Amino acid sequence: MILSTERLLPDAQGYARAAEILHEGGRVAFPTETVYGLGGDARNDMAVAGIFEAKGRPRFNPLIVHVESAQAAQAYVAWSDLAERLARAFWPGPLTMVLPLKPDTGLSPLVTAELPTLAIRVPAHPVAQALLRTFGGPVAAPSANPSGRISPTLAAHVLAGLDGRIEAVLDGGACDVGVESTILGLADGPVLLRPGGIAAEEIEAVIGAPVGHHAEGSAISAPGQLASHYAPGASVRLNAETRQDGELLLGFGPVACDLNLSPKGDLREAAANLFGHLHALDGQGADAIAVSPIPDTGLGRAINDRLRRAAAPRPGTDRP
Ligand code: TXA
Ligand code: MG
Repeated sequence: MILSTERLLPDAQGYARAAEILHEGGRVAFPTETVYGLGGDARNDMAVAGIFEAKGRPRFNPLIVHVESAQAAQAYVAWSDLAERLARAFWPGPLTMVLPLKPDTGLSPLVTAELPTLAIRVPAHPVAQALLRTFGGPVAAPSANPSGRISPTLAAHVLAGLDGRIEAVLDGGACDVGVESTILGLADGPVLLRPGGIAAEEIEAVIGAPVGHHAEGSAISAPGQLASHYAPGASVRLNAETRQDGELLLGFGPVACDLNLSPKGDLREAAANLFGHLHALDGQGADAIAVSPIPDTGLGRAINDRLRRAAAPRPGTDRP
């Protein structure tokens, strides 16, 4: 669908409109001190699915949640003395901490890609701060570029890649850091998951010990890259036109089925429903879940990526 992307200015009217769009489940690109982020309400499945759709991300990578303060962060993650020290030293600023996710936070499972951890940060850019305060909730935001393209540091870069694909961009001029935040894993010992706006040495100075290092991508995406991941208890059969004996059918489009990802065949709606529907069918005690064919275009590629992992042979079992 082609949208008319609103250009918003960083004034009271612009913030109010941006917050309204976020409350409605829309996407607003906004400046942070690192790069422009593509924001959506982190509690809204459709909003988060819409972020992946606009970026054309082939896979549901977990997203960073942006909040206005360290205190707000503690509603979502298990806090620690170390997290407190790092927050005092570097927040607001370009440090993302990966911490254990608290139960029942109300965040969309698409945000964490169902990992038991959450990446969270408090951006320092005054426009990001004002937006978060006006909106009053958690904003999930990857960099505001089409998947595989370079990250945007100007509203014009955002529009070059995403004009007509997102509801609005809040123009706050150039981002001064220009590279993404440093991602530090704290769930099991401090590990540098992605180098970024804050040097490892600065972090080590605060921690008082060396941090472990991981090549970019490897540690971060490892859980999602395992062939068998996100697997429900039931076995999963893909590209099913009909239901076989003992199967529950997860449909897509106008088909007779047990649960439908999107009766009207909308990929964004299907992505928003994917995890919830798999859990629901699993919860019905299905031995096997058959899934209708999903077009392998746009958000369908991310859905199929995830479904293939759910259907893959599982280590340690003889079940397909
Ligand atoms: O500076 C930034 O961090 C920018 C601005 C917009 O805040 N955002 C950004 O987001 O770079 P994105 O989606 O392009 O990169 C987020 C990275 C991904 O590599 C993802 O795998 C990792 O964070 N990530 C998210 N949640 C994670 C988790 N629970 N554990 C490990 N890595 C995680
Ligand atoms: Mg990115």
